[in-house]
Amino acid sequence: MASSASLLSGVSAVVFDAYGTLFDVHSAVARHAAAIGPEAARFSEVWRGKQLEYSWVLSLAGRYEPFWILTERALDYAFARFPDVDRRLRPALLEAYRTLDAYGNAGPTLAALRQRGLRTGILSNGDPAMLEAAVASAGLAENLDAVLSVDAAQVFKTHPRAYDIALTALSVAADEVAFVSSNRWDIAGATAFGFRTIWINRAGLPDEYETLAPRAVVSSLEDLLRV
Ligand code: LAC
Repeated sequence: MASSASLLSGVSAVVFDAYGTLFDVHSAVARHAAAIGPEAARFSEVWRGKQLEYSWVLSLAGRYEPFWILTERALDYAFARFPDVDRRLRPALLEAYRTLDAYGNAGPTLAALRQRGLRTGILSNGDPAMLEAAVASAGLAENLDAVLSVDAAQVFKTHPRAYDIALTALSVAADEVAFVSSNRWDIAGATAFGFRTIWINRAGLPDEYETLAPRAVVSSLEDLLRV
C-alpha cells in the first residue's frame, strides 16, 4: 500500500461516495429486520442492486431521473420479488433510507482529514434533498466542505460528467482529488476519470475492474488516516 506521504501528497480534497461508503445502505432494512422476516438480508441486497442497475441503465440510455425515485422503484421491485414481506413497511423503510446510519468512524475521520488541512466533500448519485437529509441526520455537515450531487450533471456515476462536478465545485484538478468509495464500480469510474482512488473494501470482496485499479485499498474509513 502507498504511504501517506505519497498517496496524499499534492492532494487538496478528499471526496467521498455517500451510499455504502459513509452511510450503511443496509441499515434501513436492519432497523426493520424483525418485521421483514428471514429474507431481510436478501431483500436489502435486491433493493440496493436494483437501485444501482436503474441508475446505470438510465445513464446509458441518455435518460435521468432523481435517485430518490429510483430508490422507491427499486424498493417496489424488492417487494414484488419477496411477496411474503409486508408492503405496509414501505413508508417506514423509505423514511429509514432518508436517515441511514453513518459508519461510526465517519465523523471523526472527516474531522481528522480537515485538521490536516484537506478539504472534504461528498460526490454522490443521491439527489440533493436525500443527501441533505442523510448528512443532517448523521451530524456530518460540520465536517464537510461540499455535498455534491450528480443531479447537477443529470447523469449518474460512472459517467465522467458526474465526476467532473467536483472539479468545478472545489476548484481542483483531478489529480488533486483523493476519491474514496466502498463501491468497486465507483472506484473504476473515478480512476478512469483521473482521480486518485482509494477503495474501502470492508467486506474483503475479491478485486475486479483490473484495468481500473485503485491507488490504495483499505478496510475502513479510519484506515484513511494511516495510508
Ligand atoms: C452514491 C451511491 C450510489 O453515489 O453509492 O452515493
